[in-house]
Amino acid sequence: MIDKGKEVDIYWFSGTGNTLLIAQTLEIFLTTSGFKVNLKAMEKSDASRIDLSRTLGLAFPVAEQGTFPLVWDFIKRLPSPGKLGIRDMEVFMVDTKMIYSGGVKGPMNGISSTRAEPWTRCRLCERNCPTQSWRFDREQNMMLWTKDECIYCLRCFSYCPVQAISYGKKGYTQNKGVSSGVMGKRIL
Ligand SMILES: Cc1cc2nc3c(=O)[nH]c(=O)nc-3n(C[C@H](O)[C@H](O)[C@H](O)COP(=O)(O)O)c2cc1C
Ligand code: SF4
Repeated sequence: MIDKGKEVDIYWFSGTGNTLLIAQTLEIFLTTSGFKVNLKAMEKSDASRIDLSRTLGLAFPVAEQGTFPLVWDFIKRLPSPGKLGIRDMEVFMVDTKMIYSGGVKGPMNGISSTRAEPWTRCRLCERNCPTQSWRFDREQNMMLWTKDECIYCLRCFSYCPVQAISYGKKGYTQNKGVSSGVMGKRIL
């Protein structure tokens, strides 16, 4: 039960946009119910410095029957209320999931950088990737993807406006909980 009049900080991570959509819906619901809500992207926030006097919401997807390393790291870095002399704090968590992942990480290992055309040079993949796995290579005049840091959140795949990013041989459908513009605005 959240105290009315309190501020609510919802820290979210979303790859394909489902969790962001839920977090935005929560924001509308809580705001119209009299709360002040701040939506904050996990990857842009320092977990160790969050204000525990506010209600804390955590919203993230289930991934590989847990969640992404980026989310675990965020949770591990949260301050300990006990150490700060806080006896009571309000925390809630929202997960989105698909029940079973279907082994999506396997096909993602075969992600290909981009098709040559169509090529909008929007660099949304680079700007929105939480792990900085995309970079623009001037010599080759194309985006290059580095596998090592990729957490397979599918954000780049989902938000590419011209579906230039593909992976595996199966024709996966591009899904977006919210538009590329909204995602870009939230994160940048
Ligand atoms: C790499 C990866 C792993 C996933 N693993 C699971 C899983 O183990 N169990 C599950 O129910 N859903 C799994 N999913 C599905 C996501 O939890 C679901 O699509 C979620 O709504 C994605 O949220 P997002 O759009 O905010 O990124 C996985 C999705 C991805 C991309
Ligand atoms: S490169 Fe990997 S980590 Fe970056 S947005 Fe794409 S799937 Fe997510």
